[in-house]
Amino acid sequence: MRATAIAQPNIAVIKYWGKRDVERNLPAVGSISLTLSTLYTEMQVEIDTALADDVLSVNAVENRSLLARVSNCINIVAGVDRPAVRVSSRSNFPIAAGIASSASAFAALVVATDAAFGSSISRDRLASLAGRASGSAARSLLGGFVELDNDADDIRINKLLGAADWPLEIMVAITAPGPKPLSSGDAMEISRRTSCFYDRWIEQQAADLAEARAAIRQRDLQRLGAIAEHNCLKMHSVMWSSRPPMIYWNSATIACMQTIRELQAKGVEVFFTIDAGPQLKAICTAADASTVRAALSATEGVVEVMQSGIGEGARLVNA
Ligand code: DP6
Repeated sequence: MRATAIAQPNIAVIKYWGKRDVERNLPAVGSISLTLSTLYTEMQVEIDTALADDVLSVNAVENRSLLARVSNCINIVAGVDRPAVRVSSRSNFPIAAGIASSASAFAALVVATDAAFGSSISRDRLASLAGRASGSAARSLLGGFVELDNDADDIRINKLLGAADWPLEIMVAITAPGPKPLSSGDAMEISRRTSCFYDRWIEQQAADLAEARAAIRQRDLQRLGAIAEHNCLKMHSVMWSSRPPMIYWNSATIACMQTIRELQAKGVEVFFTIDAGPQLKAICTAADASTVRAALSATEGVVEVMQSGIGEGARLVNA
């Protein structure tokens, strides 16, 4: 009647931006991500027949604003005719700040809900259900290098490489820890409706995915970095060309990009990516990790640098 699951966020190197079906939250494009190891969300779901409605606490504080989305996700897994639950979520990193907190939260939530209700749903199916709550969450069901494919009428996740197959390091340079003003989901709908670059973005995604897939299979960091930076900046061009425009960067985000360019010029194997927030994520070899970390920490406006390796998929920690 009670289960706890852990999931780690993932960072996309080929991004998801845009929905082909808003009702079922199906993405308009495939994507490729790396699941992190050190950042996590722990989610406990407890069936409580004494409760009239679901209750949610986030980092030990009752949270009503996220409750509807969480209850909805539980309904998707356990059905609407279910007893109420007590849900507690705890993350060791800032939430809603462009560090993919919804990915780890909903990945952990579907796994914990499945176990609490004893539903025994397959991992593929759980990924698809997590994706209905948040597209990027589907990718955190698996560890390592994960591709999300658009199936005929659904999504499918595939592991391209395991966590240990290519032990890269990821630095998250925090430039502003506060919550972002607009959710990714709402922002990408504005892009779909208004950006003059949106159709080109969709059109070119298959080629970007193929290039990244090949680079990952060859474990070629420079090749992966070139396509990942291109794909990231293209996504931000779609955001910038939306009406109203969406600019998630601040001056420290740009300073971090310059830091990465300086490191690359010195032969350091590193590339950057940025999501719907002002934090910059740098991906590098383990050998270059301390150099990259020091350079980002010394960049003006960086508040903190979080470091992570590549980790495993969502899993139950007790039932
Ligand atoms: C920029 O998964 O948060 O991080 O499906 O509406 O919940 P919803 O969107 P979400 O969007 C992630 C957008 C991104 C790119 C990515 O992770 O692929």
